[in-house]
Amino acid sequence: MSPAMATTKERRDEESPYQKGVKQLCENGLQRVPNKYILPSSERPNRNVEDFNVAKENLQLPIIDFADLIGPNRPQALKSLANACETYGFFQLVSHGIPDDVLRDMMDVSGRFFDLPFEERAKYMTTDMRAPVRYGTSFSQTRDSVFCWRDFLKLLCHPVPDFLPLWPVLPVDFRKLAATYAEENKNLFVTLIEAILESLGIMEDKEKQTEEKDLLKGFQDGSQLMVVNCYPPCPEPELTLGMPPHSDYGFLTLLLQDKVEGLQIQFQGKWVTVDPIANAFVVNIGDHLEIFSNGRYKSVLHRVLVNAEKSRITVASLQSLAFNCSVRPSPKLIDEKNPKRYKDTDFGTFLDYVTKQEPKGKSFLESRKLTC
Ligand code: OGA
Ligand code: NI
Repeated sequence: MSPAMATTKERRDEESPYQKGVKQLCENGLQRVPNKYILPSSERPNRNVEDFNVAKENLQLPIIDFADLIGPNRPQALKSLANACETYGFFQLVSHGIPDDVLRDMMDVSGRFFDLPFEERAKYMTTDMRAPVRYGTSFSQTRDSVFCWRDFLKLLCHPVPDFLPLWPVLPVDFRKLAATYAEENKNLFVTLIEAILESLGIMEDKEKQTEEKDLLKGFQDGSQLMVVNCYPPCPEPELTLGMPPHSDYGFLTLLLQDKVEGLQIQFQGKWVTVDPIANAFVVNIGDHLEIFSNGRYKSVLHRVLVNAEKSRITVASLQSLAFNCSVRPSPKLIDEKNPKRYKDTDFGTFLDYVTKQEPKGKSFLESRKLTC
């Protein structure tokens, strides 16, 4: 490239409308996807062609009934849970006890946030990965070479009273509705992770050991990041993705999605679309739980398709231990037959990693594996 061309390109990037996000880009109508969002052909979703790596039918994820998990059917429900975590790394959680109107209000106020004028949303825009409130587009709008078709709002949530004063002031009911949702979500996570630990054979003692009590306390005091995703309709959805293939960093992600499908997971070597179930959570294992379980439960790759007709909103809650805690394979799952397979890791290491390079697929988790 000649120096003159480079200068032109730089100028174009500086003035790039893409930094303002997809919602803003679509505001005045758009017939084509701009080059900035067009993936190399090998990374496109290819869903309209006969493609070897795309499943023909949607996937019915295993359904875990939370009421069973906390009732007399617990032993059976724990087996189903272990099976879902081992085979899919994903499941749908139903009868979870969070009232429908709490879910509906969260979805509704998220939609109204993204409908605010750009200037209002832009108040929360920052490139600081460690900011407690961050509005942005793509994955990282300063680093991604190709942008994905997504705008997001990320909020740290725990403890709510510490962070609430930093959350968006508009819509006026945002803080109240998001706080109720975040707190309900946290309680659900704590009960669910306790069941997951039991399904791994770690909590079998009825009289809980101090070590186990400390672990549960660690989750109660742990980190909670809420990511509100907005995927506007896309004129050429076969050229781009709402999110590229990635795994989530924490122990569990609880995803609330509207009726519009879009989430695909890797299952038996193919990309399969997850069928949305009204008022259910799609729960998936994150990198930290894969490490903690010494590889028994897998953090599975997933990605998001966009579509031409409908806007899609999702709310992902990524839950883990506190940011300064280190995550290591549980000593109870390590023996001669199952040697330790991962290095100890912490959130700081992860942030340093993603700040320096584009996290492709499960590259962070791969970097934590012990090879001998
Ligand atoms: C995420 C994620 C899926 C979706 O936020 O990490 O994978 O369908 N979201 O929005
Ligand atoms: Ni994800």
